[in-house]
Amino acid sequence: MNHFLDVHKTDSAALNSILDQAHAMKTARAGRPRAALDDDLPLDGHMVALIFEKPSTRTRVSFDVGVRQMGGQSMVLSGADMQLGHGETIADTARVMSRYVDLIMIRTFDESVLLEMAEFADVPVINGLTDRTHPCQIMADVMTYQEHRGSIKGKKVVWCGDGNNVCASLLHAAAQFQFDLTFTGPAQLDPEDEFVGLARRAGSTIQIERDAETAVQGADLVVADTWVSMHDSQSTKERRHNLLRPYQVNDALMAHAKPDALFMHCLPAHREEEVTSSVMDGPASVIFDEAENRLHAQKAIMRHCLGK
Ligand code: CP
Ligand code: NVA
Repeated sequence: MNHFLDVHKTDSAALNSILDQAHAMKTARAGRPRAALDDDLPLDGHMVALIFEKPSTRTRVSFDVGVRQMGGQSMVLSGADMQLGHGETIADTARVMSRYVDLIMIRTFDESVLLEMAEFADVPVINGLTDRTHPCQIMADVMTYQEHRGSIKGKKVVWCGDGNNVCASLLHAAAQFQFDLTFTGPAQLDPEDEFVGLARRAGSTIQIERDAETAVQGADLVVADTWVSMHDSQSTKERRHNLLRPYQVNDALMAHAKPDALFMHCLPAHREEEVTSSVMDGPASVIFDEAENRLHAQKAIMRHCLGK
């Protein structure tokens, strides 16, 4: 079963061919209306369930549009409206859904929900974000880097801020796409040791640097994310902001990166918090290409899952 659960759980040859296909599919439909069908209709006759237990703009819309462009049909479901949100087990939900749909994408809180869904579903399951990882985002990020600068292999990527779910998937990608990653943030919000170790064992140079300016020296790509994620309690907001303020991405910080460095953010962003508008809207920023590439990368991920 070709689930897409995490960047490190799909082999690197498959990841590279997914991104090759994503680039090709993006090029093939350049200039066409958004609802125009792709020529080969790889999802013709296929039904895809998109389950959300957390809010979403990009993931929801890009998966939905992507399924339709490939000739399939999709249904967007809120976890709270399903019996899943009222005590039906994940295993039973997975087995029932598998009788109706060909593919399940789920955004949830605890990773165990995703893993149980994948264990009991008879159809492929895609991780649309958990508290722990966000692999579809990072596939789009790598695609976006390739589009602007070519291969990401050997490049220096710097993550500024919270060692959160998106940072975790970036560590997985460092291992799979062979780039180096410097994390800069407070010790209290370091990424998980397990994921740092995984990337190091794969041969990537992973550095933890508390000083943001030192970290960003010579960076090819600087990446930021919100200081308070959807799974974080709002009661921690003030503490997090105090810890993370030195790690804001602003023009002064970007000046330490390479002159042609790119800036990425998965969005939604909190302007003037983790990143200034001057960086978000400045020449280094590729944030809207990154958002668009969610569509193309996920279409290729769905094809991979379905063997199409
Ligand atoms: N980046 C991302 O996943 O955005 P949404 O929360 O809007 O889906
Ligand atoms: N780290 C963020 C990513 C949102 C796409 C969150 O989990 O809320």
